[in-house]
Amino acid sequence: MAADADRPDDRGQHRRGPRAAVGAVRGGVGRGRDRPLPGRAVDRTVARHDGRDPPADRGRASLSRPRVVPVIVDRTDEELRYALPCKWGLVDDDVLPAWVAESDYAWAPPIAAALADAVARGLTGYPPFDEGGELGAAYAGFAARQFGHKIDPLDVIPTADVTAGVRLALDLLSDHGPVVMPIPGYPPQLSIAQITGRQRVDLVVDPDAERAEIDLDHLDRLFADGARTLLLTQPHNPWGRVFTRAELEGIRDVVVRHGARVVSDEIHAPLVLAGSPQHVPYLSLEGTADHAVAIVAGSKAFNTQGLKCAQIIAPDPATRDLLLAVPMARNDSWSPLGVVAAIAAYTECDDWLDALRARLSDQRDLLAELLAEHLPDARMRPLEATYLAWIDLRAYGHDDPSAVALEHGRVRVNPGHDFHEGLPGHVRLNIATNAERLTEIVRRMAKALA
Ligand SMILES: Cc1ncc(COP(=O)(O)O)c(C=O)c1O
Repeated sequence: MAADADRPDDRGQHRRGPRAAVGAVRGGVGRGRDRPLPGRAVDRTVARHDGRDPPADRGRASLSRPRVVPVIVDRTDEELRYALPCKWGLVDDDVLPAWVAESDYAWAPPIAAALADAVARGLTGYPPFDEGGELGAAYAGFAARQFGHKIDPLDVIPTADVTAGVRLALDLLSDHGPVVMPIPGYPPQLSIAQITGRQRVDLVVDPDAERAEIDLDHLDRLFADGARTLLLTQPHNPWGRVFTRAELEGIRDVVVRHGARVVSDEIHAPLVLAGSPQHVPYLSLEGTADHAVAIVAGSKAFNTQGLKCAQIIAPDPATRDLLLAVPMARNDSWSPLGVVAAIAAYTECDDWLDALRARLSDQRDLLAELLAEHLPDARMRPLEATYLAWIDLRAYGHDDPSAVALEHGRVRVNPGHDFHEGLPGHVRLNIATNAERLTEIVRRMAKALA
């Protein structure tokens, strides 16, 4: 089906008049004009692991406006069994979960305050269906501050989640040729080409390669053989890589040579860890706007996955018009609470995000130490971004180490098979928890696998 074939004849069904002015608030979904500014009071923003105020801050607080020290707060096991019903709820009580990509941390205080306020004021109506608005302005500000990427707020189109956005982009924008999928890849996306009626063609990274990279010659051959779209994930899950500008320019040049498209899943962009290169949005490269869209969300970094609000960034006017014209049945609707959380995350949580990245960087370093001590034959490439470590445990001789870890160690990690069909001996381990749990996870895995 050509992209145009099922454009709705009720074009504009979801649009209200001309494009909104930059930053305009539509429908009151974001922070309402009469809503108190969230996240400024000491008791909401300052917290320590032990719940006590930091002594150094107490004196200063009375002299002037208190310096807000964001701290990443760990939820207890009991809290997590309620808060994360998939990651924690689907395992037995004696199992330590390190699988689903959710963190064990409490929300940033501005997000908690914004959500509490929205619920108190009854925000459960449909969100507005248009581009830009307060959400667009919030994301544009975030992208400028975090990635140095200037985008027009009106290029920001909401969608239910990143998976839905990727599916919609493929379905609506891509030719019907095959979709190139770098492997190992995020499991739900392994079937996404097929769901949109396209064939998946794999660009597999050799598990023994020193560095996980997209082989440009291979990509060139796949396009020459008829592929029409690259599904790029960057930073990459589960490779843990941040692609450099040079790598991305190389990808762009191959794509342009073949007149192909890129769907760039950048959900992990806020999660670049210490010592890694900066995230370069694919759309920030020259010559990409007419063949690419990016799908972004604050949900991974800010732990709001269940609230359902991602964004498609579409700077090309024709592409944007196609996306805005889709009938509601095709772009699953997002949640107004997701919009509230995203706006708070994008506008009020930069300091918290710094603290999160510092915590995750510590966890990554701790994991390296733990592996060296307890599983010395494990191999792990440097984890540059995400909180998801891809670990090669082939040396321990188990086809599926995750099954052994669950049965004998009472630890749940993701099987490598789910990311790379037929690949033995790999697991993906989620480090977004506290040091004590991570230590226990690795200790138990080592005991089970040895
Ligand atoms: C690369 C990637 N894309 C998409 C998702 C899922 O995002 P969403 O829940 O917004 O569909 C994940 C979740 O881990 C992911 O790692």
